[in-house]
Amino acid sequence: MAKKRVAVLISGRGSNMVALTEAAKAKDYPAEIVLVLSNRPDAAGLAHAKNAGIATTIVDHTLFGDDREKFERALDAELAAHKIDLICLAGFMRLLTPWFVTRWNGRMLNIHPALLPQFKGLHTHRRALEAGAKQHGATVHFIVPEMDSGPIVVQEAVPILKGDTEETLARRVLEVEHRIYPQALRLVAEGRVTPAAAGAAAR
Ligand code: GRF
Repeated sequence: MAKKRVAVLISGRGSNMVALTEAAKAKDYPAEIVLVLSNRPDAAGLAHAKNAGIATTIVDHTLFGDDREKFERALDAELAAHKIDLICLAGFMRLLTPWFVTRWNGRMLNIHPALLPQFKGLHTHRRALEAGAKQHGATVHFIVPEMDSGPIVVQEAVPILKGDTEETLARRVLEVEHRIYPQALRLVAEGRVTPAAAGAAAR
């Protein structure tokens, strides 16, 4: 079967994008990362993608003012130009409209640094510590219009240790992220997990 063509959308550091590109080097991996797209021209991850010989493109959201859909139409045009099958959001800091989410329904994944449905949104590590949670973790899920809410593909817990700070916890969660995102993309690219199946498993 032909490998799925994947775009990774980033806004910053790009360490999950690197984990995906490393995993995709394996001969039997069912997906290839053919495009790294950033909404920020200064995203650090862009340099890594270029060094790795992956096509990069910037769609700067600030050029579109408040018109989110116009920004997304520009994104969509880039994705079409590269014949993208699947999108992986990896630290992509833009909320997407229902138009874009519906268009990519079942073909777009995100990684979130928490055990969803706990701690949706930002500052998850700090909030988990403040809540006195015993465990934290990371989740890869399909995107639906409601933020951080789609069917879960892979989730892994991390124990919260005595003396953990936001930084130490974030570091341990990030190690998990780098492991589970490639696993989740493999499952989806092979067609072994679909949004319907993932949603049913969660019910
Ligand atoms: C990760 O913690 C990811 O879960 C969250 O944003 C962060 C991005 O990190 N959505 P990186 O850019 O992949 O290093």
